[in-house]
Formats: sequence, structure tokens, C-alpha cells
Amino acid sequence: MKLCMIGAGYVGLVSGVCFSDLGNDVICVDKDVKKISKLKKGMIPIYEPGLNELVKKNYKAKRLSFTSNLSEAVTRSNIIFICVGTPTKKNSNAADLSQIYSAAKEISKNIKSPKIIINKSTVPVTTGDQIEKIISQRVKKKLFSVVSNPEFLREGEAIRDFIYPDRVVVGTSNKKSNKILKTLYSPLISKGSKYINTSRRGAELIKYASNAFLATKISFINEISNLCEKTNVSIEDVSIAMGLDKRIGGRFLRAGPAYGGSCFPKDTRAIVDTAKKFQTDLSIIKAVIKSNKNRSKLLLKRIQNILKNKFKKKIICFLGVTFKANTDDMRESSSLSMIPYLAKKGSIIKYYDPTGFKNEFKNIKNVSNSLTISEACKGADLVIIHTEWNDFKSLNFKKLTKKKSFSIYDMRNILTNKHFNNDKIKYFGIGS
Ligand code: UGA
Repeated sequence: MKLCMIGAGYVGLVSGVCFSDLGNDVICVDKDVKKISKLKKGMIPIYEPGLNELVKKNYKAKRLSFTSNLSEAVTRSNIIFICVGTPTKKNSNAADLSQIYSAAKEISKNIKSPKIIINKSTVPVTTGDQIEKIISQRVKKKLFSVVSNPEFLREGEAIRDFIYPDRVVVGTSNKKSNKILKTLYSPLISKGSKYINTSRRGAELIKYASNAFLATKISFINEISNLCEKTNVSIEDVSIAMGLDKRIGGRFLRAGPAYGGSCFPKDTRAIVDTAKKFQTDLSIIKAVIKSNKNRSKLLLKRIQNILKNKFKKKIICFLGVTFKANTDDMRESSSLSMIPYLAKKGSIIKYYDPTGFKNEFKNIKNVSNSLTISEACKGADLVIIHTEWNDFKSLNFKKLTKKKSFSIYDMRNILTNKHFNNDKIKYFGIGS
């Protein structure tokens, strides 16, 4: 099939590359000319394990191409995916849909033969209705259909999540479009993924409800970990035992710092905002947002206790600063509030991240990037494991810090107390 992906960001690029790997002819469009020319040279704008190889392979096989010319890309394709950003609006919690609507307008100028327009971006329920309205201002309704097909990819696991999704959700009441979509996804369905056909509005809401539920699960276990800390109970035991109940399930039940990234924080805000517009109160999701905001403050309080309230001149090493492992994404990472706070208190922060230097900390006094783990740990009074990279799982901290006594705050529980038996190293985990 001839596909066009509008927006070569996370969702557009990963989905486009994976669709091309399934044998489709895919063209990725982006108005960022620099990004497109880099992609043509095989330079990938995001850090995503496995993506580089897959882009090169399919570009070479001529199943994958890149352009900044939307009109040309739309004209030559029968299926058009909208994969643009829907960030939080500057002065409210609502999703900013300007990129969606401008894509719809541009598409409408280039429809001369039948097209299926599929929205993959995360959008509030009823956005598909608006897209249809915009396009129908120029194009006859029988020439196009607007479908919702949300994405459930996780950064760092995106390729695997694309190939082996738990479910493919397609929102349309148009039988022909549904049949074509089912054929497009048939290689994944034949490997066991469930195909769900629902209404367009249903698909839009499924995406937000899923992200909000996962965010709720994380906030729930984070709060239980607070109780574990006070009662000397292992949060790991609680998570494992709870997760073994099939009604609960073990995934996304790992306690840690505040959840971050480009999705959960923004999508929980947006669904609450949408509900408000429809006179509905999503009080549980509101509480989740509040709990997550409070999370970084709580963890900072713990750091204050570990340092016995003495921040000045203390050397603090941050291992990992991104919102999770296997990504270079800093969006809404809890390190963005914790590091400036500690630096302002007079601590000296050295950070190491496997994905390198971060612009976000560039102009902050007392904060420096270390190129190696040993450089970051040297002389540290406190080592904070902020992100769960495998690189941090079997380190000899005594050797690295070159100090006899120091503390470790493991915000991801990748180590345990047992690692530091009979040592002058004080170990603190989440919920312990
Ligand atoms: C999330 C969803 O998991 C995807 O299904 C969805 O497609 C995507 O948002 C999106 O809407 O585009 P992502 O933000 O890439 O994916 O990352 P997650 O792996 O979900 O992690 C989000 C946050 O939750 C991270 O800060 C992570 O550290 C935290 N988390 C996750 C926990 O604290 N505990 C857990 O058990 C799991």
C-alpha cells in the first residue's frame, strides 16, 4: 500500500519505518527541512534502539522515502497518517490542536482521488469530527474518510511495541476503510495482536483512558511506597504480590520518581480538560496529577534527610537524567525540578547520562555534565540513581567514588540493601 506519514517525529517516524519494513511504500513528510535532509543522509533525529538500522535498510530498499513536500506526498498516497504533536497549550491544560488542524487543511488542498485519512496523534474525543469538517470544506465526503488509529508505543521500546502490540485500535464506521486497515495490520494480527474496530470517538478516548489509567497505576504504587517507607515493608514484595493477581497485573507497578515523558503528564491534563468541557469531573485523574506533582517534592525531602539538612558544598552525582531508560528525552523528567533545586541549595551536581550532555542544565550554576560514570561519581557524598539504565546495575561504587563513606539513593530500586552489607555506604531505595 502507498502510505504517507505527516510528521516525522516519534510516532510518525517509528510507524512509517515499521510499515515500510512490512513491505509498504512509505513517504514521511515533515516541514522541518533540516530534519528531512538529515534523514535522507541516514541521520536519525531521535534516540530509539533499533531505529537507525531499520531506516537504513528500508531507505536502501526504496520502500521508505522522506520529503518536505506535503502536496506531492499526499497526491501519491492512498492512506495518509497524521502524526503531528499535540502539546499542552501555553496557558491552559488543553491539548494544542493547531498542528492537527493545519495538517487537515493542507491535506484537503491535495485530495483528487479517494483517500483514507488516519489520525495517529493523541487527540481529545471529537477531534476526528473536526478534521472531517475541515476537509469537507474543500472535498466531497465520498472522496475521503477520517479514521482514528491511536498509537501505544513506548519510547525506548517503540519498534518492539509496533511489531507486537497487545491491540490495534481502529475507530471508524466506514466498512471499506476498516477492511483496508485490517489488511494493512494483518501481519501483526496474524502474530496474535487483537484488532479492535470501534467508533472514531471511541478510539480517541481509548488512548487517553489507557494513558491515564497507567499513570494512575504508577501514582498508586508510588503512594504505597511512601507507606512502605514508614512501616518498614518492602515495596518490591508488595508490587510483585499485587501484580500476580491477574486482575491487577504486574506491569507499570514499579515505584519510582514522578512519572514523566511526553505523554502521561500532558495526556492526564488534557483528558481532565476535555471532561470539563463535557461537564464531567474526572476526580481520580485530577488526584493522580496532584500526587505526581507532589512526588518530586517528597523525594527531595528524602534527599534532605539523607544529607541531614546540609546541602552546601555536598557533591551529588546523578546517574541518568532522562525520564526513563533507553531514551534521550528530557520532557517532564523529574530531574528537571530536582537538579536546579539542589544546585540552588548550594550542592555541587555532577550528572552522567548514557545519552550525553543536556542543554536543559547548561546555564545552571553548580551543575556539570560528566563524560563517564567514574568522573561523575568521584568524590560524591551522595549518588542518586535517577534512571534505570542497565549501565548502572553492577557498579562498584566504593571504587568509583574513591570514598570510604557516602550514601546512595536508588530511585528505581535497581540495587538492594544486600549489595552494601557491612559497608560504610548508606543505601536508600524507594520504599525502603
Ligand atoms: C507512554 C505509554 O506507555 C505508551 O503506551 C503510549 O503510546 C505513549 O505514552 C504515548 O502516549 O505516546 P512513554 O511515555 O514512552 O509511553 O513511556 P512509559 O514507558 O510509559 O513511561 C512513562 C513514565 O512512567 C516514565 O517516567 C517511567 O519511568 C514511569 N514508570 C513506568 C514508572 O514510574 N513505573 C512503571 O512501572 C512504569
